[in-house]
Amino acid sequence: RAQREAVVSRHGQLLEAANKWYRQQLRTAPAAIAYLKKRGLSGEIAARFGLGWAGPERQGLAAAVEDYNDQLLVEAGLVIVNDEGRRYDRFRERVMFPIRNARGHLIGFGGRIIGPGEPKYLNSPETPIFSKGTELYGLWEARQAIRSAGMVVVVEGYMDVVALAQLGVECAVATLGTATTPVHVQKLLRASDHVVFSFDGDKAGRRAAWRALEACLPLLRDDVSLRFLFLPAEHDPDSYVREFGAEAFRAALREAQSLSQFMLSELASRHPMDEAEGRARCVHDARPLLQAMPAGALRLQVQRELAQLTRLTPEELGQLIPLQDVPSG
Ligand code: UTP
Ligand code: MN
Ligand code: MN
Ligand code: MN
Ligand code: MN
Repeated sequence: RAQREAVVSRHGQLLEAANKWYRQQLRTAPAAIAYLKKRGLSGEIAARFGLGWAGPERQGLAAAVEDYNDQLLVEAGLVIVNDEGRRYDRFRERVMFPIRNARGHLIGFGGRIIGPGEPKYLNSPETPIFSKGTELYGLWEARQAIRSAGMVVVVEGYMDVVALAQLGVECAVATLGTATTPVHVQKLLRASDHVVFSFDGDKAGRRAAWRALEACLPLLRDDVSLRFLFLPAEHDPDSYVREFGAEAFRAALREAQSLSQFMLSELASRHPMDEAEGRARCVHDARPLLQAMPAGALRLQVQRELAQLTRLTPEELGQLIPLQDVPSG
């Protein structure tokens, strides 16, 4: 345990040294600065999020750390060793987004390419201190804004968080290109009792919202509000807020669908509800969802609406979908 903590703190030191270096590099990288300007970001917002630039050198970080051969650089995901045993920087020619955990400790990076190429974003690998399924980008930076707004907005991407903050919506955090997990939801509910998911308007974003809903179900409580904002198909929060402005985004947030609305309308849209067969499949699909919900007033409400939707009596639905009496925590 003490050994793990020592490793974690050494990782942290290396990541901080790299971050300092990347931030310095950004000041003298006209192409990267032009890229950020083109995306509507000011120097002030870049500084607030600690954005940096990893240059094209194969061993650029050698200038930033004491010992480039330190194996911990590899473990921290900053350096890669190739088949011939040669070391080189993982992040090259990328705008760097430092990722902090909820306590403000640097745990990893995302790096965006500024020209054509793959992958668009390169992230730190899973390390002893970085796991994408549990971390939320921007949570540390947004903590005060979340408190004063009384809500946290969950988006897909780094740029969505930063662009929203640039235009004054500072309470956004991002899942790091992974599905929302129950651990994410736990962290979100610890930060605020009002969570709005606002993923990209494309099909992938809609699927991501459904996955988020599934992750939320076991953690539902009657005193929290979980909502879903669906943007026009061609937009993500970054493009939306830059085209229509922060007021329009805030108005859209206020109109966001409740979790139960989303769940029931999605279920109803999958099958022809004017046929007995379609309504039967709807009950079938709803079963695991309803059974994932803790007992409480919301579950009763959803049960009642589902019974109406599927033209069953509440008793019939209760027999088809037996529910346990476990209340929420
Ligand atoms: P998107 O493809 O929606 O990118 O991926 P974006 O955030 O809108 O990026 P811009 O606006 O083109 O800069 C959403 C998120 O998925 C993860 C990143 O966290 C990204 O922000 N992702 C995406 C990756 O990790 N790698 C990729 O190659 C692409
Ligand atoms: Mn409250
Ligand atoms: Mn996308
Ligand atoms: Mn996007
Ligand atoms: Mn985008």
